[in-house]
Order: sequence, then C-alpha cells, then structure tokens
Amino acid sequence: MSEVTTAEFNEDGKYIRKVRSFVLREGRLTKGQQAAFDKHWGQYGIDYTPEALDLAALFGNDNPVVLEIGFGMGKSLVEMAAAQPDKNFIGIEVHKPGVGACIMEAAEQGLTNLKLFHHDGIEVLDNAIAKGSLDCVQLFFPDPWHKKRHHKRRIVQAEFAERIRGVLKVGGVLHMATDWENYAEHMTEVMVAAPGYKNQAENGDYVPRPEHRPLTKFEKRGQNLGHGVWDLMYQKVD
Ligand SMILES: C[S@@+](CC[C@H](N)C(=O)[O-])C[C@H]1O[C@@H](n2cnc3c(N)ncnc32)[C@H](O)[C@@H]1O
Repeated sequence: MSEVTTAEFNEDGKYIRKVRSFVLREGRLTKGQQAAFDKHWGQYGIDYTPEALDLAALFGNDNPVVLEIGFGMGKSLVEMAAAQPDKNFIGIEVHKPGVGACIMEAAEQGLTNLKLFHHDGIEVLDNAIAKGSLDCVQLFFPDPWHKKRHHKRRIVQAEFAERIRGVLKVGGVLHMATDWENYAEHMTEVMVAAPGYKNQAENGDYVPRPEHRPLTKFEKRGQNLGHGVWDLMYQKVD
C-alpha cells in the first residue's frame, strides 16, 4: 500500500513524522483473498485519490451512507450491509488481508451496497469524503493501545471527533464500541468535550448495544477474555 508510505512525506518531498493509529504488519494474503482482489476490486474497491467522492454516483442511488473505519476482516460489515440494503456502506481498512477477506465475503453474497478503501482512514476522511455527506460513522473495537506511552496512537482524539463532525450530516451519528474500559473512558472524555455533539445515551455515558451491530471478530475475542463492551453513540447536532 504505497499511499500509506508516501503520505509520510509532504508536498515538497520532506519527511514528516505522523503519529498513526496502526502499525502495518502485512501478512500474506491467502489465495482466496488474492483472487478476490484480482477479480472483484473493480466492483468493490475505491482507489484512493485526494478528491471528494460523489457518493450518489458511486452507488447509483441517494441512499444514506454509513462509513466504517478499521473493519478488520469485514465479516460484521458485510453482515450489516446485507441486512440493510436500503443503506450504502463504505469500509476503510489498512490491513490488506482484511480487505481481501471482506471483498471475498461481499462477492459471495453479491452485495451491491458496499465499497471499500484500502487506505488510512484519516486521509480518506480528510480528502475523499465530502463535508456533511455521511449518515453514520462506525468505529468498532479500534486498536486500544493499552500502554500509556502509546495512548497518543489512539485514533479517538479531539481532532478525530472534529474530523468526523465535518463529514457527518446534521443528525448523523458517530457510533463507537470498545472492549477496553480505559479506552471507553477516554472516548467519553473526548466526546463530552467535543463541540456539536449530543450523547444518545439515556442513562450514563454508554448506550445499550444496538441490535443492528453484529458481533465482530475482536469483540468475540474480548468476550473470550472476559472483557466487557461499551457502545457510544453521539449525534451531530450542529
Ligand atoms: C482491533 S482491530 C478491530 C477490527 C474490527 N473492527 C473488529 O472489531 O473485528 C482494529 C482495526 O483497525 C484498523 N485500523 C487502525 N487504524 C486505521 C486507520 N487509520 N485506517 C484504517 N484502518 C485502521 C487495523 O488495521 C485493524 O484491522
């Protein structure tokens, strides 16, 4: 994924140090994942360019658009897209085998309402998504970066909340979930301080797990480790 590497350089070719929310450890793709890329990238893939997409043209309709950052292997994203054909879904993931796995699953189900970026979600949000165009942004089980000295790598920060607010429509929702309590508290702190949002929780900081969110791979892993799960939903009000 050359774009992620070259993004470390500015327009004059000068190296700039960016704190990223991921470390790329590219495992090999399985034959099936590679075949899915070769055969179906044309249908499911969006080649990143730093220009805002025309979402209606991309999907061929005006349905609401849900964007998910860091879909992992994509099983739960495909499940959601299959269950809600009246919405369009955009998935973003930096891990190539995950993108391959997701394409494979989407093609098997013949989905027509799902498109995928193999790219850094932050750059996609900043450059490829028009302001005020999304109905929902999903961030499920982002890397928790457990150690304190790594907390700066957590994707949820004040700037992140502002970035998401930029791409959401008024009334649109940022939905996050984590199985790491300290990250849930951090997310809450960030969101409470972020302007322009209203917490959807009726009691306390967290919402009950919404039925439309399928169990994800990392969530299952967390459950096996005895972790709890915290869902946060914040609506853009202005
Ligand atoms: C802990 S995994 C969770 C995956 C999935 N949501 C689940 O619940 O099974 C976090 C994922 O986010 C991806 N990720 C982290 N930072 C990202 C970024 N800036 N853009 C796109 N994907 C990112 C990682 O590659 C990883 O697959």
